[in-house]
Amino acid sequence: MAELLLALDQGTTSTRAILFGPDLLPRAAAQRALPQHYPAPAWVEHEPEDIWSASLAVLREALARGGAGGREVAGLGITNQRETALVWDRATGRAIHRAIVWQDRRTAGACARLRGDAAASALVAERTGLLPDPYFSATKLAWILDNVAGARAAAERGDLCFGTVDSFLLFRLTGGRVHATDATNAARTMLFDIRRGAWDEDLLRLFRIPAALLPEVRDCAAEFGTTEPGLLGGAAVPVRGMAGDQQAATLGQACFAPGMVKATYGTGCFALLNTGSVAVASRHRLLTTIAWQLGGRRTYALEGAIFAAGATVQWLRDGLGLIAEAREAGELAARADPRQAVYLVPAFTGLGAPWWDAEARGALFGLTRGTTRAEIARAALESVAYQTADLLAAMEADLAAGLPDAAASAPERRVLRVDGGMVASDWTMQFLADLLGAPVDRPTVLETTALGAAYLAGVQAGLRAGPEAAGTHWRRDRRFLPAMAREEAERRLAGWRDAVRRTLTAGR
Ligand code: G3P
Repeated sequence: MAELLLALDQGTTSTRAILFGPDLLPRAAAQRALPQHYPAPAWVEHEPEDIWSASLAVLREALARGGAGGREVAGLGITNQRETALVWDRATGRAIHRAIVWQDRRTAGACARLRGDAAASALVAERTGLLPDPYFSATKLAWILDNVAGARAAAERGDLCFGTVDSFLLFRLTGGRVHATDATNAARTMLFDIRRGAWDEDLLRLFRIPAALLPEVRDCAAEFGTTEPGLLGGAAVPVRGMAGDQQAATLGQACFAPGMVKATYGTGCFALLNTGSVAVASRHRLLTTIAWQLGGRRTYALEGAIFAAGATVQWLRDGLGLIAEAREAGELAARADPRQAVYLVPAFTGLGAPWWDAEARGALFGLTRGTTRAEIARAALESVAYQTADLLAAMEADLAAGLPDAAASAPERRVLRVDGGMVASDWTMQFLADLLGAPVDRPTVLETTALGAAYLAGVQAGLRAGPEAAGTHWRRDRRFLPAMAREEAERRLAGWRDAVRRTLTAGR
């Protein structure tokens, strides 16, 4: 009987597949690194064929390692780096340009002009819950249509497809039969009305996007079609789950109740606070987004997105050569002189929430002759915690300004559930709890993104109960309790905010 669940997690720097049992415990996994392309400063691209070949390879490898065939898989769940924009030929499936990655800032000028137009900014905020920033797909898609010869005319004729990575992979996996996405990915394009749950004609006009390009939008647990039999060991595997990676991680972390919050530390860091059936407009420059859509009903979240978390540790390793492996950062930071107030503002690709400064660039403050690589490593890890504190402070302020009762009163609200590569560092998690003055919970399964995708496929396959049912797949590995005096935490936070103020550009 088919009772295994397969998850494909196509992230910014790596592509993973994990095979889960019906108990949602991982059985086998496979992973490939994804090459990055930087054709100009602050531009970031991925080769679509790399995304496709790595996805297929890890899916096959995970099945082989788990000793399973495609026939034993009840459902495949796809989860992905969000916002990254692809345009491909409907007839051949070939992309007409490299994928423009969510981190890419080439459309900063177009977004600055939009921000200068109060009516356009208000329209974007009201319909999409986002704010005009190059982070989201719309201006990237417009850039491709404007810069690839013949693209706009082909798009008008209906010869091209637009999609985020989920949609591209689904198209390829189904042999070009299905051009669809899910509501969470659609919510990140800046073209989707998150309250109506539909593509928005006013926004399509604003960004000059032909409607013929767009995928059909489905629930996160749905029948997305079956894979071409030749691809996964002769079986037509049903694709039954789809969600953007941060939304999938929210499900993987079982943040099912309004008020629950998680933070995932990958390349960037993304914190999502469940606000239930209400799409709350943030007063503190957070994003409003769809957490999931099941049975046609949408659950919403407030999201804080920061662009450099694990990327900062990668920079220590690959840019500065201060460490040979990422896990050394915590050991080095633990040796730093705690009296030195060194701050790293990792604005390598601008600053995200709650600052939103696309033009800001990174800075180090407080260097003395006594500063060594240990203090710099510490400042790098601390920057991740400081940025998280900024996000949660903005969420708290939104709650104080009157979020739905359930979200405001949930006891879980003050506990942060964490996942992603960086949370393996006990040092960083302890510092995070200290700074927040709140418990930080690390689960046993850290692959929460893949877990969320498998969970969605399991719900659709009838193997798992939906989020409204009692019970959860979530298990705690360790709780970090705050140990730092509040005055010290506040003093450090004030130093951080001063460093950020000095990094922001005037044009913000
Ligand atoms: O919004 C971008 C986000 O989805 C990327 O996540 O894990 O690939 O860095 P990750």
